[in-house]
Amino acid sequence: MTFSRDLKIAPSILSADFANFGAEIEAVETQGADWIHVDVMDGHFVPNMTFGPPLCKAIRKHINTVMDVHLMISPVDQYIDAYRDAGADIITAHIEAGPHIHRTLQHIKSTGAKAGIALNPGTGIGDMDYLLDMVDLVCVMTVNPGFGGQKFIHSQVEKVRQLRAKIGDRPIHIEIDGGITPETAPLMWDAGADVLVAGSAVFKGGSVSNPKPYGENIRAIKASCG
Ligand code: DX5
Ligand code: ZN
Repeated sequence: MTFSRDLKIAPSILSADFANFGAEIEAVETQGADWIHVDVMDGHFVPNMTFGPPLCKAIRKHINTVMDVHLMISPVDQYIDAYRDAGADIITAHIEAGPHIHRTLQHIKSTGAKAGIALNPGTGIGDMDYLLDMVDLVCVMTVNPGFGGQKFIHSQVEKVRQLRAKIGDRPIHIEIDGGITPETAPLMWDAGADVLVAGSAVFKGGSVSNPKPYGENIRAIKASCG
């Protein structure tokens, strides 16, 4: 994975057909997805449950782009190896998931995966100073994690602007996660983000048997960023 700040759309499979992940992933990649965002939830860190390492392993063969695994779980450390073994290219842990985020990031990097850190809407970037030289990605949550289809939290635009300045020329992706639509995408692109996760805005109106809307939705988000 060579680093580029070009705009990337990462559809979240949380909004895909849960009975048909393989075909949905192939369809949305064919329609232009740049990465595949995999939302792992444990029913403890967030009030929802999705899937674990076995499902990630099963869908890996259908992903030809990037498997971007977002761990909304706590504790997280004991599961990192399992998600890497399942094929994750990027493993993102929440800074709020435990007391030893520095060790968590060391562990993720030791597996060979790219290391991401996710910040909930209420978390500032002040605690990033001693982590920025360890991470490959910072995921700024623009909804409170746990569900797709929620409303974008506009206060996070300023957070991204400040984060982009703090990052400087380090090869670190800024990923936005939650409530991305053609209306909200340009706010974050202009603020300095380069990866936009979108679940409901990409999967709406389409299906495996009618995937064209996936491509139209992806193009609409990209076009809105100019
Ligand atoms: C929420 C997840 C997001 C979510 C995005 O906890 O981390 O990735 O699936 O869904 P939309 O794009 O519908 O807000
Ligand atoms: Zn996510």
